[in-house]
Amino acid sequence: MTNDIKEVLFSEKQLSEIVRGLGERISKDYEGKNLLVVSVLKGSFVFMADLTRAITIPCRIDFMAVSSYGAGTRSSGVVKITKDLDLPLAGYDLLVVEDILDSGVTLSYIRELLQSRGPESIRICTLFDKPERRTAPIKADYVGTVVPDEFIVGYGLDYNETYRNLPYVGVLKPHVYGG
Ligand code: IMP
Ligand code: MG
Repeated sequence: MTNDIKEVLFSEKQLSEIVRGLGERISKDYEGKNLLVVSVLKGSFVFMADLTRAITIPCRIDFMAVSSYGAGTRSSGVVKITKDLDLPLAGYDLLVVEDILDSGVTLSYIRELLQSRGPESIRICTLFDKPERRTAPIKADYVGTVVPDEFIVGYGLDYNETYRNLPYVGVLKPHVYGG
């Protein structure tokens, strides 16, 4: 499996430092608020587990799942909700947690949908940001780190449902996806 990785971009240690920094900022910013952390599955599941444990204030947790990619490395532009949230959103300060913000199509769809349910506020936290690739008008409020325009996997991120369990983040060799 590791043979498919061209280069390690972020080690376990680097990832945990990034996540700890985000947790500190979020804990400070949401002090006294009614924080609901929403994970967008599946890509954010590892980040979510680490981030919520780096948040030191009380919060609630919920999950939703969307799919927009299929088996390719480019967004299809079509977002489908495959699992909705359990909690009603009124009164909550929402923090939507994503693995990576790429074209922005997925998150702008999710933000609009969640906004229509009347939460107190909505902010977005993404571990990785590829700003060069943005086509939808969306910016994250918390960004772990900016990454180059390369397809990355590990720490929750997949290619064709594989590599999510890598503890680090690496660039996939192009031959793996026929590039
Ligand atoms: P967007 O709608 O184009 O912003 O796509 C966001 C989603 O695409 C992310 O939540 C990921 O699931 C997936 N994605 C985008 N870039 C990558 C990548 O480099 N590696 C793995 N998944 C990616
Ligand atoms: Mg994905």
